[in-house]
Amino acid sequence: MTRTISVGLGERAYEVRVGHGLIDRAGEAMAPLLKRRRTAVVSDETVWALHGARLTAALERAGIAVSPVIVAPGEETKSFAGLAEVTDRLLALELDRGDLITAFGGGVVGDLAGFAAAIYKRGIGFVQIPTTLLAQVDSSVGGKTAIDTPRGKNLVGAFHQPRLVLADLDVLATLPDREMRAGYAEVVKYGLLGDFGFFAWLEAHAAAVLSRDPQALAEAVARSIAMKAEIVAEDETEQGRRALLNLGHTFGHALEAETGYGGSLLHGEAVAAGQALAFRFSAAQGFCTTQDAQRAAAAIAGAGLPVRLDEVPGHPFGAERLVRHMAQDKKAQDGKLTFILARGLGDAFVANDVDAGAITTFLRQEGAT
Ligand code: NAD
Ligand code: GLY
Repeated sequence: MTRTISVGLGERAYEVRVGHGLIDRAGEAMAPLLKRRRTAVVSDETVWALHGARLTAALERAGIAVSPVIVAPGEETKSFAGLAEVTDRLLALELDRGDLITAFGGGVVGDLAGFAAAIYKRGIGFVQIPTTLLAQVDSSVGGKTAIDTPRGKNLVGAFHQPRLVLADLDVLATLPDREMRAGYAEVVKYGLLGDFGFFAWLEAHAAAVLSRDPQALAEAVARSIAMKAEIVAEDETEQGRRALLNLGHTFGHALEAETGYGGSLLHGEAVAAGQALAFRFSAAQGFCTTQDAQRAAAAIAGAGLPVRLDEVPGHPFGAERLVRHMAQDKKAQDGKLTFILARGLGDAFVANDVDAGAITTFLRQEGAT
């Protein structure tokens, strides 16, 4: 069964389809969006080796010619150099503005190809076919595209919505378990930030989701996307409520910056620890109960994800160094730090005026130096 979720953005509205076998039907799904039957597929070497033949065959069956643009896997590719490489390849292919780019990979490929699409000849359409759990439930939906710079992650980018998202659950069969867990951190985020019922469902079904039980996975992915679609439709450019999607990210980005964006700490792992820290800080400030913070951490830890600083590679961290990263975060304004805090499970809110001193003290209590 394919579930279809609409992202309601008026003339730029698009569908996110979730189900099995969607890659095999990608040609018929994409053909109506194409002026001429060709597409450049941006993918990484790992994804292309595993699933490229299947996608190519499906597109060619619909008469769509495929030009692969294959990049190295890993966060380093989401850079100015990676962007230059991809845009140069697109120019060499002589794509014009009636053509579509297909982003086929995880969040790295989606963010990079999406940004290339945003700026290629002042904007070309693109389709997302996300292949990690994280990309299916988060990065492929909502139109945030970006590259990293040496000064930080996602600092150069654009809002550019895809024309269609095909989240084929079959492709997750080859995803390493660690990447699956990292994506799960973004799934549990939706429950924690705004849907207690979903959070409670996840407490009961985490093992089934992580072991890729088809029904549990479909439910978790579709519910996550539905919440993201609803938030994006209401606040596309993050003037307000969309910021809730950053639950755990201010702490998480600081930990990623300290660990160097390599493979030692995945984005989802950083966000996992960040969410547990955000709940404990919320409890320390009296916004939520200690029991809620413990229950949030138990759900995250139960999925094999870090919830304490001493579980994060690089421990012990310097509290002031972490706070400096937080202050450089693009969400920081006028010297005050912005955090997503919680009044309870499923009840997050944006706090724009968090005192850096209170965070430093809290981080020391959590084991930072
Ligand atoms: P990723 O794209 O690096 O993929 C993780 C690894 O899994 C890679 O080595 C990749 O080759 C491999 N892989 C992908 N699909 C596979 C499959 N089906 N089978 C086997 N291996 C597979 O990482 P990610 O976690 O998907 O994305 C992280 C990125 O997403 C970060 O750059 C983050 O900033 C970004 N992000 C963006 C948004 C947004 O809204 N745009 C939201 C969250 C995260
Ligand atoms: N991943 C956060 C957002 O899309 O806003």
